Amino acid sequence: MNSFSFCLRLSLTTLALACLGTSGAWAEEQEAAELYHQYCSVCHGDRGDGRSRARQGLMPPPRDFTSPESASLLTRERMLEAVLDGRPGTAMTGWRTRLSQEQALAVVDHIRETFMQTGIKKADTTAQTDAATQVTAHSVTSRGNFNSGRALYAGNCAACHGLKGDGNGPRAYFIFPKPRNFIAEETRRSIDREQLVAAIRNGVQGREMPAWRLVFTESQIADVSEYVYRAFLRPPDDASP
Ligand code: HEC
Ligand code: HEC
Repeated sequence: MNSFSFCLRLSLTTLALACLGTSGAWAEEQEAAELYHQYCSVCHGDRGDGRSRARQGLMPPPRDFTSPESASLLTRERMLEAVLDGRPGTAMTGWRTRLSQEQALAVVDHIRETFMQTGIKKADTTAQTDAATQVTAHSVTSRGNFNSGRALYAGNCAACHGLKGDGNGPRAYFIFPKPRNFIAEETRRSIDREQLVAAIRNGVQGREMPAWRLVFTESQIADVSEYVYRAFLRPPDDASP
C-alpha cells in the first residue's frame, strides 16, 4: 500500500490529522496505535504479550514484549530491522513495502512505550534526547567525534560498506545497486562533508541506504560522518586534516 492510499484510508477516520502535516505527538501516537491494531495485534496480541488468536499456529510463537527478557534483548534498532525486513525462519514478514520507515519506527516506539518495560514513556523520550544533545553539544554543522564515529560505523555501516570502506561488507553481496565504495577515487571527488551528512541523515532514495535520522541522534550522525570523512574520503596523508 503506498502512502497516498494509506492517507486516503486514514482520512476516513479521525486520524486524518496525521496526514495533514500535523506533526503533533498526539496524532503520531494515534496513528502508531492504529497501525499496531491493524497489522500487528493479530499475532502479537492486543496487549503485546503474544497471546493472540493466531498464536497456536505459529512456530516459534510471537514473543511476549512485556517480559523483562524482551526489554533487555530488544533494542530499538533490532526491532526496526525486524519490522522492515522480517525475522527469517518465523512468521514475521518484512513490512517494508507496506509501511514507510517513519511508520515502522512509530509502531516500534508504540510497542516500546506501551508494552515493554523500557522505563521510557513517551513524554521523557524527547527530554532524554534533548539532554543527550546538550551534553555533547553538537550542532548540525559542528564536527563530530571521530572515535565514537568509528564504533558507530563498525556496528551499523560496516555490514554493507565494509570495515575498510570499500563497499564490500558481508551484506553487500545481496544488495543492488551496491553500497557506496568510499575509498574509490570518484566517491572522494564527488562527495563533500555536507552531502555526506545529508546522505547519512536522510538515506538514499531508491537504494538500500537507510535514513539514519530515524535511529541516530544528531550528534551520532555528526560522529559517524566525521569518521567516514576522515577515515575514508579524505585520509590525512592525502589532504588537509
Ligand atoms: C503473522 C503473524 C505476525 C504479524 C502479523 C506480525 N508479527 Fe511480528 N513477529 C511474529 C513472529 C512469529 C515473530 C518471531 C518471534 C518473536 O521474536 O517474537 C515476530 C517478531 C517480531 C519482532 C522481533 C522480535 C525480535 O526477536 O527481534 C518485532 C519487533 C515484531 N515482530 C513487530 C511486529 C510489528 C510491529 C508488526 C506489525 C507491523 C508485526 N510484528 C506483525 C509474528 C507476526
Ligand atoms: C543495508 C546496507 C547499508 C547500510 C547498513 C548502510 N548503507 Fe550507506 N549506502 C548503501 C547503499 C546501497 C548506498 C547507495 C550507493 C549508490 O547510490 O551508489 C549507500 C550510500 C551511502 C553514502 C553515499 C550517498 C551518496 O550521496 O552517494 C553514504 C555517505 C553512506 N551510504 C553512509 C553510510 C553510513 C555512515 C552508514 C552507517 C551509519 C551506512 N551508510 C549504512 C547501503 C547501506
